[in-house]
Amino acid sequence: MEISVLPLAAGQMKAKVADESKLGFGRIFTDRMLLIEWTTEKGWHNARIKPYEPFVLDPSAQVFHYAQEIFEGLKAYKWGDGRIALFRPDKNARRFNQSAERLCMPELPEELFVEGIKQLVAQEKDWIPTAPGTSLYIRPTMIAVEPVLGVNPSAHFYFYVILSPVGAYYAAGFKPVSIMVEGHYVRAVPGGTGEAKTGGNYASSLKAGLDAKKKGFDQVLWLDGREQRYIEEVGAMNMFFVYGNRVVTSALNGSILAGVTRDSVLALAKKLGCSVDEMKIDVNDLMADIKAGKVTEAFGSGTAAVITPVGRLHYKGDTVQLGDGGVGNLTQRLYDTLTGIQTGQIPDDFGWITFVA
Ligand code: COI
Repeated sequence: MEISVLPLAAGQMKAKVADESKLGFGRIFTDRMLLIEWTTEKGWHNARIKPYEPFVLDPSAQVFHYAQEIFEGLKAYKWGDGRIALFRPDKNARRFNQSAERLCMPELPEELFVEGIKQLVAQEKDWIPTAPGTSLYIRPTMIAVEPVLGVNPSAHFYFYVILSPVGAYYAAGFKPVSIMVEGHYVRAVPGGTGEAKTGGNYASSLKAGLDAKKKGFDQVLWLDGREQRYIEEVGAMNMFFVYGNRVVTSALNGSILAGVTRDSVLALAKKLGCSVDEMKIDVNDLMADIKAGKVTEAFGSGTAAVITPVGRLHYKGDTVQLGDGGVGNLTQRLYDTLTGIQTGQIPDDFGWITFVA
């Protein structure tokens, strides 16, 4: 499909943040966006790169009422030689369509997902920050825009992509976060939408997140929705626990997100000589193992969070420290290797990098 490029008036060009250490996460957006529409009559049509601007949507648009919405997150990096790299965009394209299937939304051809992002990023290349720890965050999204209040799959969707130059997701940067295991609320249940990347999963996590913050913890670690016993994920991250040379993470069980970074960490850990186990992790066993000193490190993984060390874990009135509470040795090596591949400082033996022409 041809993607047209609409002109950008001089007044629509924004000033870029001069100090890249002040970018934060997801507050600044570039000058242009990609928009493609889908209707039952025409399928996907009218693909255009256009000025970044608000949508005019009918107040009855279905997304506002029944949350028929999905999204993705990936990043672009500007390498030292000037090339622009995307990290595993094909994986995001595939997961986007898996989310679309769950939410009764139209699938987008994977080539169009990737090609649309490449063309948009190429137009906006001057927005890619280069300071250590920064990148251009890419947010592909699909929303239901048909103006009707019946609870039915929409007949009209917008697929759009916006770009945001970002620093670290957590304000403290690459520093250990503290995590509270949530023992009351649940994020997802088997058969629900936990495996899909849909906004409702995040909206329903807010209350527990606020409660955790009030108690002095940065994030919530969810337990399974059936028995409230097995470790699931931290909304913005999959979780890993390090037992010496063995790396353990929750198995994909249908209610946690199949993270692209999670998959990459499993491959990198093996490459660094670790054994990896994807399994059911009983929170009681985990707490006992941490107390016994068997768990030497813990960290989370995600596109936004990259690899985030975990310093403290709290469950049912008990707070335990991971290792010495600082950044673990393997956590640091995985972070360095992953970001080294993403930024072109370490060769990509996995074929994960795709360049923007
Ligand atoms: C990402 O890591 O890209 C996500 O979508 C997580 C989001 C909570 C920032």
